Amino acid sequence: MTDGGSNGITGNRQMKESILEMSADLAWTVGQVAEAAGYLWQKGWAERNGGNITVNVTEHITDDIRRLPSISGRIPLGSVLPHLRGCWFYCKGTQKRMRDLARNPMENGSVIRIADDCAHYEIVADAPVAPTSELPSHLAVHDYLLAKGSPYRASLHTHPTGLVALTHCSRFLEKDAATGMLWSMIPETKAFCPRGLGIVPYMLPGSKELARATIQAIDDDYDVVMWEKHGVFAVDTDIMSAFDQVDVLEKSAQIYMAGRNMGFIPEGMTDAQMQEISDVFGLPK
Ligand code: 13P
Ligand code: ZN
Repeated sequence: MTDGGSNGITGNRQMKESILEMSADLAWTVGQVAEAAGYLWQKGWAERNGGNITVNVTEHITDDIRRLPSISGRIPLGSVLPHLRGCWFYCKGTQKRMRDLARNPMENGSVIRIADDCAHYEIVADAPVAPTSELPSHLAVHDYLLAKGSPYRASLHTHPTGLVALTHCSRFLEKDAATGMLWSMIPETKAFCPRGLGIVPYMLPGSKELARATIQAIDDDYDVVMWEKHGVFAVDTDIMSAFDQVDVLEKSAQIYMAGRNMGFIPEGMTDAQMQEISDVFGLPK
């Protein structure tokens, strides 16, 4: 068992069995996270420990799991998140690699529960792996989603090369400029990422300011927001759906880049063609 490092988390319990053996639904959900983590690595969006995933797994927690003792101390969240009382999350571990998580999700991530004071968490299983450094953004967003009564349970942060490159051009940081260009590259992007891409100006990774700005952008009705010169943050019902929204956006960025590399500026679909997509698919305004 390893030392958790910077959070001062140390191991004190050797699990006889994995928590995944105690709930088939939890095992399935964590399996989906592992599968998505493998895609992130294959896509080239997850260099070293890049990116993180959290999933609200509360509905998969059985009474037996609820009785498990903590394997960490009580760790401060750094803020009070009132809607997370009694919630449980699977979290990628900080400094852990997506490509390792794909093979061993419970050695490269852990299951945590939020304490009743909504200001602390404890690691419950399987190993005392300290959660991602982006926990402030992930948990603040989950708190926001529960407050809104949203069915979204998964959040994904990743570093897709084409989308990050776009944010090095100030034109694409203007509201909905990147969205318009990306939607116009191929019909599916608007159909499957109908709220487009919100923009969050550069802020320190892992900071509370970044968490606040991310919530603000999601509150503007985006499912996917761009952290300038860093990566995307996406939310959806489950991890595969969050991955899909990022995947279609990145596909468009790649088409744009391919056109530019061929020596022309891609024309894009017309406004009328994109309106037709909205009408036929019944997309939100
Ligand atoms: P973690 O390894 O702490 O999850 O950080 C990765 C990352 O992408 C930070 O933005
Ligand atoms: Zn990152």
